[in-house]
Amino acid sequence: MTSASQRFVRPIAIGALVCSGAIGFGAVRGGLDAQPPTTPSAPTGPAVAAAPSESAARGKRVYDTRCVECHGKTGSGDGPAAPMLMPRPRDFTAGRYKLRSTETGSIPTDEDLLRTVRQGVYGSAMPAWEKLLSDAEIQDVVVYIKTLSPRFTTELAAAVTLGPQVPSSPESIARGHQVFERLSCGSCHGTDGHGTFAIATEFEDDWNHPLTAADLTQPWTFHGGATSRDIYLRFRTGMSGTPMPSFKDTATDAEMWDLANFVVSLGRKPVWSMNAEEVAALYARDAAEAKADPIKRGKYLVDTHLCVVCHSPLDQDGKIMPGMTLAGGQLMRVLPFGDYPTGNLTSDKETGLGGWTDDQIKRVITTGTRPNGVRLPPLPMDWSAFSAMTPADLNAMVAYLRTVPPVSNKVPEITRPLLPMYLWGKFKMLILQDDPPIIIYPGNVGTKGGQR
Ligand code: HEC
Ligand code: HEC
Ligand code: HEC
Repeated sequence: MTSASQRFVRPIAIGALVCSGAIGFGAVRGGLDAQPPTTPSAPTGPAVAAAPSESAARGKRVYDTRCVECHGKTGSGDGPAAPMLMPRPRDFTAGRYKLRSTETGSIPTDEDLLRTVRQGVYGSAMPAWEKLLSDAEIQDVVVYIKTLSPRFTTELAAAVTLGPQVPSSPESIARGHQVFERLSCGSCHGTDGHGTFAIATEFEDDWNHPLTAADLTQPWTFHGGATSRDIYLRFRTGMSGTPMPSFKDTATDAEMWDLANFVVSLGRKPVWSMNAEEVAALYARDAAEAKADPIKRGKYLVDTHLCVVCHSPLDQDGKIMPGMTLAGGQLMRVLPFGDYPTGNLTSDKETGLGGWTDDQIKRVITTGTRPNGVRLPPLPMDWSAFSAMTPADLNAMVAYLRTVPPVSNKVPEITRPLLPMYLWGKFKMLILQDDPPIIIYPGNVGTKGGQR
């Protein structure tokens, strides 16, 4: 290890999360209680009060205990847990926020920030803090995060004004459907809001992290909430830092309410509120879709099981290195169990999975056994969590991996600990209940580019 790379070591105490598969859950579904209300929330408390410097000092203390883990010491979104989260924690130094009631490009209002901190960001790891912090603490921490970007001292928030709400009705929804078509929302979200006939399907945020356009039939995944007002604000103001554009002056205020009502009408029930028949019908539909397009299904599985997050090397800013998606070479060190550079999953014949048989790929994903017989521990890759995948899903995942363009990147072998170190590690895990930290090193340890 060179001293240059040492500087960027990010120790991550996520062993427990990896073991329990909670990361996959957290990243896909967000916090456990992350289900947005479908009725408007009552107006929240007062906006941030005066005496900013004292408040900011108190807010820093809240931040340093509650927020650093994800948002990082300097607020640039690079806390120790960040590399394992999708979407990534916000970079507060950029002053760019997704969830605003302000014009595109504008900073958010205090009320926007307070609301986000209180209720969390659904469909992400960002917790709802109102259960854990007092309202005064929330106000202070918001004052503090505003000090992390100069934009809050030089700019004013440009709030949008929404006209009177148009109540939902079959007529409003039908009009909203026309607006949806006129504004081509379907080009990214699909004509049915569920991705069908979408023209653009691959998205990235401003930090080069992969992103999917929201599935409009799954309102509980909307980051900013699922009431018609929430939805109106999202498409009216856009989501800064993402490809979700802002739609200003494209329709009248009443039409925008109609559109919001239409989007609400696309929402289906989440599985946990369905009865047995509804669940069966949903899975039958999913199975039919997967059968019709296994590669799309495979890509969905690879994205949601975080394969990309681990099997793509990151640069020092935590971005996937250009052209290296799924090319492996991300070094993960599990103390004291050894070094695990992740394998190249592209279709390259020499250094990727191009030369593997389908069965060899499936075997390593579900049993951790590589073609040379080497058995991987269930860390860092929690293959035991993948072992319950259906044969159809495994086939779909392999079918998709076959389509990933080849990148030649030969990744070094994993290293094994000496027996005493191994036993010590096991002792710590089993007896002392101390999960091993996983350290993720930026840069590619493979042969491509010689970045390290
Ligand atoms: C477990 C990780 C985690 C912790 C702890 C955490 N956050 Fe977040 N936070 C996130 C993630 C992930 C996002 C990005 C969500 C997205 O992009 O959809 C985020 C986004 C945000 C946003 C921006 C929302 C927007 O409009 O773009 C704010 C504000 C925020 N967090 C404040 C806080 C504060 C204040 C704390 C501490 C009290 C905190 N967070 C603690 C993970 C975390
Ligand atoms: C250029 C592609 C594109 C177009 C066009 C587009 N969207 Fe989006 N939309 C996205 C992406 C990408 C996201 C996900 C952003 C994220 O997760 O941070 C998104 C997210 C959303 C969300 C979820 C908001 C939330 O709180 O998470 C809604 C609702 C939405 N879009 C509605 C619309 C509507 C209505 C239109 C048409 C007026 C539209 N979108 C047009 C790309 C697009
Ligand atoms: C938490 C990080 C992590 C996640 C998530 C993860 N992997 Fe891995 N994976 C690893 C590590 C570390 C190895 C061991 C080193 C190696 O052999 O690549 C590995 C090994 C593999 C191998 C064997 C590669 C080889 O060259 O020997 C394959 C294939 C694989 N993973 C596929 C996947 C797929 C598909 C997914 C998503 C379903 C996935 N991995 C998710 C970290 C991860």
